[in-house]
Amino acid sequence: MKERIRQKADITLIPRAVIGTNAWGDALYGKMLRGSHVSEDTMLEAVKTAVRLDIPFFDTARDYGLGKGQPIVGRLCGNDTFISAKYTPAGKYKKGQVKASFEKDLKDFGRNCVDIYWLHLPNTIGNNLHEMIELYREGKIKNIGISNFNLKECKRAKAILDGAGIPLYGVQNHYSLLDRKWEKEGLIDWCRENSISFWAWAVLEEGMLVPPKKDEKKSIMKLLFSRKRRKLYPLYKVMATIGRNHRLKIPQVAMCYVSSKGLVPICGCRKPYQVEELAAAVSEKLSVAEIRQLESAADATGVKILGADMFRFAVKK
Ligand SMILES: NC(=O)c1ccc[n+]([C@@H]2O[C@H](COP(=O)([O-])OP(=O)(O)OC[C@H]3O[C@@H](n4cnc5c(N)ncnc54)[C@H](OP(=O)(O)O)[C@@H]3O)[C@@H](O)[C@H]2O)c1
Repeated sequence: MKERIRQKADITLIPRAVIGTNAWGDALYGKMLRGSHVSEDTMLEAVKTAVRLDIPFFDTARDYGLGKGQPIVGRLCGNDTFISAKYTPAGKYKKGQVKASFEKDLKDFGRNCVDIYWLHLPNTIGNNLHEMIELYREGKIKNIGISNFNLKECKRAKAILDGAGIPLYGVQNHYSLLDRKWEKEGLIDWCRENSISFWAWAVLEEGMLVPPKKDEKKSIMKLLFSRKRRKLYPLYKVMATIGRNHRLKIPQVAMCYVSSKGLVPICGCRKPYQVEELAAAVSEKLSVAEIRQLESAADATGVKILGADMFRFAVKK
């Protein structure tokens, strides 16, 4: 069992950026989802790069990589890394469900605690959070977060945690240049007002904010997004122009956009160069004028993203 270096609850644990591991999996999954397979050796190099560049934060969940992602995180991420994991509620609440799942997560990680543990969906919020509170009190969860919650649900979760004297660490929701729903609905301002960190998932819109290459391999994602990507060319052009001011490539502008707004970008990286580009992107800051220019170019494309609402069908009260 690996003993963690940092054992204290740490509300100041605000990463510059986070490595998403949704696509960490076996060869079949990699090829289907992303058009290519990346070996564990390459992913290990990506982990080492993240540690070297001081972004040693890895976001995972039991279902990532069709169940293969989380054990890979456990194998590759050492004591010099932070793990952000989740409980994904499904179906009717059964007492003890969070704890039972959490114990399996610890086995995957070979650790005795998790740095940040998120309630993945706003299902039976009270029951699930109470189990997380117990794990927090036992020192097994260092920080509690919530994911895919709307503002009303966030307020409810915060009230429950306030009642237990535990800070709400963060909200992990969908956010990108193409979908700023949670900003428009006041959730992000509410996080700022309450010193709650906001982690943005899919800042590259799962590859949509990466301009297509001529030799691009086919994948489910690329097929799904091909029509929308064609509409994004005018936005890519604005991103390229702004990127030149900062020596950033187009995908890096999407990452930098999120960090420049004071949010934490989670970016799906499987390769060392992607981690390097992420670290470089969040070291830059866009001006207010550049941010406005990007937002109007993004809105002008008319591309609508399902993102924020993608999981609402699975929410059970
Ligand atoms: N809380 C939630 O409900 C929730 C939901 C979804 C995702 N997430 C988290 O958010 C993370 C990010 O989402 P995601 O991985 O689905 O999508 P993403 O980060 O928006 O996009 C990943 C795609 O971007 C490409 N990419 C990464 N770095 C790049 C770079 N420097 N240059 C060009 N392309 C680059 C990847 O390429 P390759 O295919 O070549 O690797 C992949 O195709 C997930 O891994 C997960 O941790 C959370």
